[in-house]
Amino acid sequence: MKILILGGGGREHAIGKKLLEDNHSVNLYFYPGNGGTEIIGKNIENHQTLLELGVFAKKNAVDITIVGSEIFLIEGIVDIFQNFGLKIIGPNHLAAKLEGDRIFAKSFMKKYGIRTPKYDVFYCYKKAIHFLDQCIGSVVIKTNGIAAGKGVILAHNKNEAKKALKTIMIEKKFGKSGNQIIIEEFLQGKEASIMSFFNEKHIIPFLSALDYKKIGENETGINTGGMGAIVPNPYMTNSIWIDFQKNILEPTLEGLISEKLTFFGFLYFGLMITSNKVYLLEYNTRLGDPEAQTLFPLMKSNFLDVIQSSFLSKKVSIYWKKLCSCCVVLSSKGYPEKYKSGKIIIGLNSLQDPFYIAGANKKQGNWITSSGRVLNMVGLGNTIQEARKQAYDKVKKIQFENLYFRKDIGS
Ligand code: GLY
Repeated sequence: MKILILGGGGREHAIGKKLLEDNHSVNLYFYPGNGGTEIIGKNIENHQTLLELGVFAKKNAVDITIVGSEIFLIEGIVDIFQNFGLKIIGPNHLAAKLEGDRIFAKSFMKKYGIRTPKYDVFYCYKKAIHFLDQCIGSVVIKTNGIAAGKGVILAHNKNEAKKALKTIMIEKKFGKSGNQIIIEEFLQGKEASIMSFFNEKHIIPFLSALDYKKIGENETGINTGGMGAIVPNPYMTNSIWIDFQKNILEPTLEGLISEKLTFFGFLYFGLMITSNKVYLLEYNTRLGDPEAQTLFPLMKSNFLDVIQSSFLSKKVSIYWKKLCSCCVVLSSKGYPEKYKSGKIIIGLNSLQDPFYIAGANKKQGNWITSSGRVLNMVGLGNTIQEARKQAYDKVKKIQFENLYFRKDIGS
């Protein structure tokens, strides 16, 4: 069995490690991969277009391709691979708009009665300013395109909102993705991430996760890709799960089938839990990072079996260890803005699993930082507190210049 995994972060390393743990004879290819994936498989070198990746997969008789990063999906890799007759996990170009085109996603939610915060769409700066003049309190301003995860600004008052609007629509800080914007009602609450597997007929949810998105402790500072996560999410109570299934998951499934947006792949629900209700903020059509790294160590089922059964449209049950998991992201100071790489990492060779390489390479026997998010340290335990302790005990073993991490993951 040959599997190609697309992406180069900790999530892709985690997917690869899980597949190998369950199936020792699987051959893994990664593009572009990182220093960690190079150890468990083969990184495809040099820049490859999507078409070249398809040719590679065909020539090397790759059985299944798993797309980690949304970039490939939004550019339409699934359509290209399917034209080659290759099996690939992910949505086609149209269904990937659920993540890549926020206006498309919000219209879909509205049409199928999926509970989401109220919103308005603007193409014209003046009209958006006029609308803001009528608003009271905080609003969330979102670019239509995903702008590398940065196009979401929470504005606490009119002045902040107008400033954000100018940055997006006039100064074009996020490029073309800000040509159209969404102004959304701000909901106070607790966030949750539910990842799931969609097999064209069923959506099979995984355990819930809580992602720590901001760079600073107590969720302060700017947004990042994620600085840590815990599983399960303590705010996903039984009644919230029931609410999620009824008001979000079931109408989503109905909408996907009615609109012919079905696919084999991951569907991620980004949620906001208010005092007694859950709202859908966004879809992603991939696994979360670092949520995947937090979740995989708890998956008892054979992940390859889950994927293969789904291609047969079987409704599979996924089994989980009855444990908690905590993942702490070690990053280069300055991330997600300017940071320096090329720093020697000490302590990695003696580390116990689970941990993942997000942005580091091995050069002449040394591990060297190569990206903003560098390592993912995961701890497991009977409680979140135990898991958190295990994760931070691992963090203590690692050193590199400019190391930065949040100290409050799971607290
Ligand atoms: N951690 C959030 C995401 O992967 O989008």
